[in-house]
Amino acid sequence: MIAREIKREILSLVAIDWDRRLFDELVPLPEGTTYNSYLIRGSEKTVLIDTTYSPFIGELVDVLKREGVSKLDYIVSNHAEGDHSGAIPTLLELYPEAKVVTNTRCKGLISEALLVAEDKFIEVKDGDTLSLGDKTLEFMLMPWVHWPDTMVTYVPEDRILFTCDFFGSHLASSDLFAEDEARVEDAAKRYYAEIMMPFRIHIKKHLKRLDALAIEMIAPSHGPVYERPEFILDLYRQWVSDVAKAEVVIPCVSIYESTSLMVTYLTDRLMERGVRVQQFNMVDADTGEFAKSLVEASTVIFASPVVLAGPHPDIVSAAYLMNALRPKTKMVGVMGSYGWGGNILSKSITGLLDGLKSQVAYLDPVLIKGLPKQQDFAALDVLADAIARRNQPAGELVEV
Ligand code: FEO
Repeated sequence: MIAREIKREILSLVAIDWDRRLFDELVPLPEGTTYNSYLIRGSEKTVLIDTTYSPFIGELVDVLKREGVSKLDYIVSNHAEGDHSGAIPTLLELYPEAKVVTNTRCKGLISEALLVAEDKFIEVKDGDTLSLGDKTLEFMLMPWVHWPDTMVTYVPEDRILFTCDFFGSHLASSDLFAEDEARVEDAAKRYYAEIMMPFRIHIKKHLKRLDALAIEMIAPSHGPVYERPEFILDLYRQWVSDVAKAEVVIPCVSIYESTSLMVTYLTDRLMERGVRVQQFNMVDADTGEFAKSLVEASTVIFASPVVLAGPHPDIVSAAYLMNALRPKTKMVGVMGSYGWGGNILSKSITGLLDGLKSQVAYLDPVLIKGLPKQQDFAALDVLADAIARRNQPAGELVEV
């Protein structure tokens, strides 16, 4: 870990986790991640914004020593999760005069998880400030990005906003700043999809508050720093808006080709009608890519054979994940093939989407016996027409 100055007397301390491939035993990390801390040397007080994940405590302590930090006055904790709070107990031992500055909820979580004593905390409320001498910390509580304790810290003298998880990206990189914007956009979108999307409504409100703030730099605690804040702010405004894109996502599984023939046929018909399609074979799909596809797509069509008494388990998992992620999807459809039994696919899948029922219109399902026949293809033509009608013009933002 090295220290790099991002503003006068504000240093970025980045632990690069090149090899991590799973977060919370759930979220795939194809490009690893980083855990960022920021050291601010005010004229009177020194503060560390967020700490690091426990495997990197040694690196963080070493860099603080190399930077000659003999006294740390405050450790600001914007969020209690272990990847940012893991070093707090060690740092409190190393710097016994330091106080952990955070909000009531975050304090409660840190106390429980890390057994930090009551007298080690300074509690702050929304709008509170803390002077470092020539710099000031302003705290803004922004709950549910993505835990109830989350807050951001603003330094008005430098117009820099420290956002912890908010605006982050899981991207192990030596780049200090988001110079490769295409790469960062992809990582930030995936991060939003997996972690932030369920809290879209909260984020909308927080973005409005940030509109009133003069921001020259956004410094998250995962991924690179944004020297051009409008880049990530505009992306977030687009992702949280209620406007969906003319895109169809098809999570699918097929066993003996019947369902895959239906998927191929529908995909071709949608492409003919100028509708963008993304297919995911859920047996081996990267769930992060699937989640990312849900950020803006207007329509999701689940395609599954009947397995035992219901949909294929990987399609059940896809529907469960979609329901948990709360995308802004406007239309949902189900199609598939069965060998015997009846139309149990549709209810089984749509029943898993309870959290979306107030916003989603259901298309007529296309459920067939065995291989698709002429009348089945005709039913898929009708489905393609219904989707295309509400997804024009292709590729542009649409409100369905
Ligand atoms: Fe990066 Fe919610 O922790």
